[in-house]
Amino acid sequence: MVNVIFCGFGEEMDKRVIARSGDLLLRVAESNGVKIPTECKDGMCGSCAVKIEDLSVNAPMKSTEEDYDAHAVSFYMADKELETLVEMNAITKKEAEIAQQFNRQTPVRLACQYIIRADILVKPFA
Ligand code: FES
Repeated sequence: MVNVIFCGFGEEMDKRVIARSGDLLLRVAESNGVKIPTECKDGMCGSCAVKIEDLSVNAPMKSTEEDYDAHAVSFYMADKELETLVEMNAITKKEAEIAQQFNRQTPVRLACQYIIRADILVKPFA
Protein backbone atom coordinates (compact mmCIF):
# COMPACT_ATOMS: atom_id res chain seq x y z
CA MET A 1 0.00 0.00 0.00
CA VAL A 2 1.15 3.55 -0.71
CA ASN A 3 0.19 7.01 0.51
CA VAL A 4 -1.20 9.52 -1.95
CA ILE A 5 -1.46 13.06 -0.60
CA PHE A 6 -3.59 15.54 -2.54
CA CYS A 7 -2.68 19.14 -1.75
CA GLY A 8 -3.97 22.39 -3.26
CA PHE A 9 -7.22 21.00 -4.71
CA GLY A 10 -9.45 22.68 -2.14
CA GLU A 11 -10.31 22.26 1.51
CA GLU A 12 -12.52 19.19 1.14
CA MET A 13 -10.34 17.57 -1.50
CA ASP A 14 -6.98 17.98 0.23
CA LYS A 15 -6.40 14.66 1.94
CA ARG A 16 -4.17 11.66 2.35
CA VAL A 17 -5.49 8.40 0.97
CA ILE A 18 -4.15 4.88 0.85
CA ALA A 19 -3.84 3.30 -2.59
CA ARG A 20 -2.49 0.07 -3.98
CA SER A 21 0.72 0.07 -5.95
CA GLY A 22 -0.50 -0.28 -9.53
CA ASP A 23 -3.61 1.86 -9.11
CA LEU A 24 -4.30 4.56 -11.66
CA LEU A 25 -3.96 8.02 -10.09
CA LEU A 26 -7.08 9.40 -11.78
CA ARG A 27 -9.20 6.51 -10.45
CA VAL A 28 -7.82 6.99 -6.93
CA ALA A 29 -8.62 10.71 -7.13
CA GLU A 30 -12.15 10.14 -8.44
CA SER A 31 -12.97 7.43 -5.92
CA ASN A 32 -11.86 9.72 -3.09
CA GLY A 33 -13.75 12.81 -4.22
CA VAL A 34 -10.75 14.72 -5.58
CA LYS A 35 -11.75 16.49 -8.78
CA ILE A 36 -9.04 16.54 -11.46
CA PRO A 37 -10.23 18.02 -14.78
CA THR A 38 -10.45 15.51 -17.63
CA GLU A 39 -11.52 15.46 -21.24
CA CYS A 40 -10.09 12.49 -23.11
CA LYS A 41 -8.86 10.18 -20.31
CA ASP A 42 -6.43 8.87 -22.93
CA GLY A 43 -3.27 10.93 -22.48
CA MET A 44 -4.01 13.24 -25.40
CA CYS A 45 -5.59 16.48 -24.13
CA GLY A 46 -3.42 17.35 -21.10
CA SER A 47 -6.32 18.56 -18.99
CA CYS A 48 -5.53 16.12 -16.16
CA ALA A 49 -1.92 17.30 -15.72
CA VAL A 50 -0.74 17.35 -12.11
CA LYS A 51 2.53 18.01 -10.33
CA ILE A 52 3.99 14.95 -8.65
CA GLU A 53 6.57 14.68 -5.89
CA ASP A 54 7.93 11.24 -5.11
CA LEU A 55 7.94 11.05 -1.31
CA SER A 56 9.90 7.83 -1.24
CA VAL A 57 13.09 9.68 -2.19
CA ASN A 58 14.90 12.04 0.18
CA ALA A 59 16.74 14.08 -2.43
CA PRO A 60 15.20 13.57 -5.85
CA MET A 61 17.34 14.25 -8.89
CA LYS A 62 16.57 17.28 -11.03
CA SER A 63 14.53 16.39 -14.08
CA THR A 64 17.36 17.73 -16.26
CA GLU A 65 20.06 15.53 -14.70
CA GLU A 66 21.21 12.86 -17.16
CA ASP A 67 21.55 9.70 -15.08
CA TYR A 68 19.61 6.88 -13.48
CA ASP A 69 18.23 7.66 -10.03
CA ALA A 70 19.46 4.77 -7.90
CA HIS A 71 17.11 5.71 -5.04
CA ALA A 72 13.86 6.22 -6.92
CA VAL A 73 11.40 3.73 -8.33
CA SER A 74 11.99 3.45 -12.06
CA PHE A 75 9.14 4.56 -14.30
CA TYR A 76 8.14 3.85 -17.85
CA MET A 77 6.39 6.81 -19.45
CA ALA A 78 4.69 6.18 -22.77
CA ASP A 79 5.57 8.33 -25.79
CA LYS A 80 1.98 9.56 -25.93
CA GLU A 81 2.11 11.07 -22.43
CA LEU A 82 5.55 12.61 -22.97
CA GLU A 83 4.48 14.15 -26.29
CA THR A 84 1.36 15.64 -24.74
CA LEU A 85 3.35 17.12 -21.83
CA VAL A 86 5.90 18.65 -24.23
CA GLU A 87 3.16 20.03 -26.52
CA MET A 88 1.51 21.79 -23.58
CA ASN A 89 4.89 23.12 -22.37
CA ALA A 90 4.55 21.30 -19.04
CA ILE A 91 8.00 19.77 -19.57
CA THR A 92 10.82 20.42 -22.00
CA LYS A 93 11.78 18.10 -24.81
CA LYS A 94 15.05 17.46 -22.95
CA GLU A 95 13.17 16.38 -19.80
CA ALA A 96 11.10 14.01 -21.91
CA GLU A 97 14.24 12.49 -23.46
CA ILE A 98 15.87 12.07 -20.03
CA ALA A 99 12.73 10.47 -18.58
CA GLN A 100 12.66 7.97 -21.43
CA GLN A 101 16.38 7.24 -21.46
CA PHE A 102 16.80 6.80 -17.70
CA ASN A 103 13.38 5.35 -16.75
CA ARG A 104 12.48 8.33 -14.61
CA GLN A 105 9.29 10.26 -14.33
CA THR A 106 8.85 13.93 -15.09
CA PRO A 107 7.68 16.39 -12.38
CA VAL A 108 4.38 16.91 -14.23
CA ARG A 109 2.33 13.84 -15.13
CA LEU A 110 -1.05 13.06 -16.62
CA ALA A 111 -3.32 11.61 -13.92
CA CYS A 112 -5.13 9.46 -16.49
CA GLN A 113 -1.81 7.78 -17.40
CA TYR A 114 -0.12 7.66 -14.02
CA ILE A 115 0.31 4.26 -12.37
CA ILE A 116 1.04 4.77 -8.69
CA ARG A 117 4.13 2.92 -7.53
CA ALA A 118 5.33 4.82 -4.43
CA ASP A 119 4.23 7.41 -1.86
CA ILE A 120 3.46 10.64 -3.71
CA LEU A 121 2.35 14.22 -3.20
CA VAL A 122 -0.05 15.42 -5.91
CA LYS A 123 -0.69 19.12 -6.61
CA PRO A 124 -2.70 20.86 -9.33
CA PHE A 125 -0.66 21.80 -12.40
CA ALA A 126 -2.43 25.04 -13.22
S1 FES B 1 -7.80 13.49 -19.51
FE1 FES B 1 -6.86 14.00 -21.36
S2 FES B 1 -4.78 13.64 -20.98
FE2 FES B 1 -5.75 12.92 -19.17
